[in-house]
Amino acid sequence: MPNARGGFSSKLGFVAAAAGSAVGLGNIWQFPYIAGENGGAAFLLVYVLWIFLIGLPIMLAEIAVGRRTLANPYGAYHQLGGKSWALVGLFGILCGVMILSFYNVVSGWAFGYFVQIVKGDIFNETNFSSYFSSYVADFEDNLVYSIIFMFITAFVVYKGIQKGIEGTAKILMPTLFFILIALIIYGFTLPNAIDGVEFYLLPDFSLINGATIYSALGQAFFSLSLGMGALITYGSYIGKDDNLLSSASLVTVTDTLVAFLAGLMIFPLVFSQGQSPSEGPGLVFVALLGVFKTMPLFVGKLVGGGFFLLLCFAALTSTISLLEVPVSYLIDQKKWSRLKAVSTMAIVIFLIGLPSMLGHGAIDMFTNFTFYEGGNKSFMDVVEDLFFVISLPLGGFLLSIFIAYKWKVENLSKEIAKGNDTYVGSWKEKYFNFMIVYVCPLVLGIMFVLTVLSKFFD
Ligand code: PFF
Repeated sequence: MPNARGGFSSKLGFVAAAAGSAVGLGNIWQFPYIAGENGGAAFLLVYVLWIFLIGLPIMLAEIAVGRRTLANPYGAYHQLGGKSWALVGLFGILCGVMILSFYNVVSGWAFGYFVQIVKGDIFNETNFSSYFSSYVADFEDNLVYSIIFMFITAFVVYKGIQKGIEGTAKILMPTLFFILIALIIYGFTLPNAIDGVEFYLLPDFSLINGATIYSALGQAFFSLSLGMGALITYGSYIGKDDNLLSSASLVTVTDTLVAFLAGLMIFPLVFSQGQSPSEGPGLVFVALLGVFKTMPLFVGKLVGGGFFLLLCFAALTSTISLLEVPVSYLIDQKKWSRLKAVSTMAIVIFLIGLPSMLGHGAIDMFTNFTFYEGGNKSFMDVVEDLFFVISLPLGGFLLSIFIAYKWKVENLSKEIAKGNDTYVGSWKEKYFNFMIVYVCPLVLGIMFVLTVLSKFFD
């Protein structure tokens, strides 16, 4: 049952919300093009391996810490580890704030594209690559759509855990699946669809090297929303007898399935119209538009509109979880009302996101940072590198060290065993403890060092 801070109504409620957090732009926008460019099924294999070796243990640990302490990341580390460990929680909250600041901007692009497609004017364009460049440089549209997106996010979070976060996820997640499956079926009816499936899935192991193995881990971590305490926060709202292992497994499997299916939707569409599959980040905003344009107007609006609606829904359940992290901190630690916490954070994060919005051509100052990695970085790239690419593996590393040496795995096991009587002494317990104590710190530690070296000392 929910505690005094509010909580999810059931295990399903938690799973929907946490899967909603996990399934986002990372699955539908990033995963397909990264997998497509990096060996297809071979990449998928490496990705799934990371998910089970590192992702699932870290997710389980985050949820357990949240449920044990019934607190936000700062409060949770503070309770179990004292003042200095609390800084790790605080840093996680900061990462959540910074990630949301640019995530909301990209969500605003998706929302804007949805509107343009429904209106239909966008189909008069001939060059979607330059359309995208001028779209993201256009301040007014971006401002409007990202304000609306942040407002909807804030409204849901204001409504609270059960009515807002859980209720929204329970509607949006099944809808998202429905749209995804409908688009896959449609894509498969098109000519040359099978070429797309082959491009996406035929394993090419020659493309697997150190860099792909490493990018698969980063992708898995971001995709599962790990390393900054989002799942500590959601874990603090989970029922005290819920089975954490099966909940975490369900979230993990859903997230991986959606990423996989997103590729299965996109590549048949792209190949059917002879578009380039290696568009990189532009795959969704450029190549797919070319695909929708070749369809009869009504079909293009329906399929294109459906696609961007899907992207918005996926993004929304993620922005909700990102906003809940600092909000829960202000409610728990500073005793703010939910309304005050939500409105203040939404405005502050929106303002922090402005340079990310303006750094795509609108204002030169935010467009070209040169102080690392060969330069040519937008403000959004810098925030992304600092608070996501570098910090999330660091957050995971510190969490595993914290559990191994401070809180101790016996306590982790005890928490997981609530609602799972056979856990203690089982092979599962041995597996997760081994992963948390040895494998996660080692792998995530190496990953952190390599990332810093490659970014700043090349
Ligand atoms: N998991 C989200 C995605 O794949 O797009 C991103 C994300 C959401 C990361 C929430 C971290 C987080 F707390």
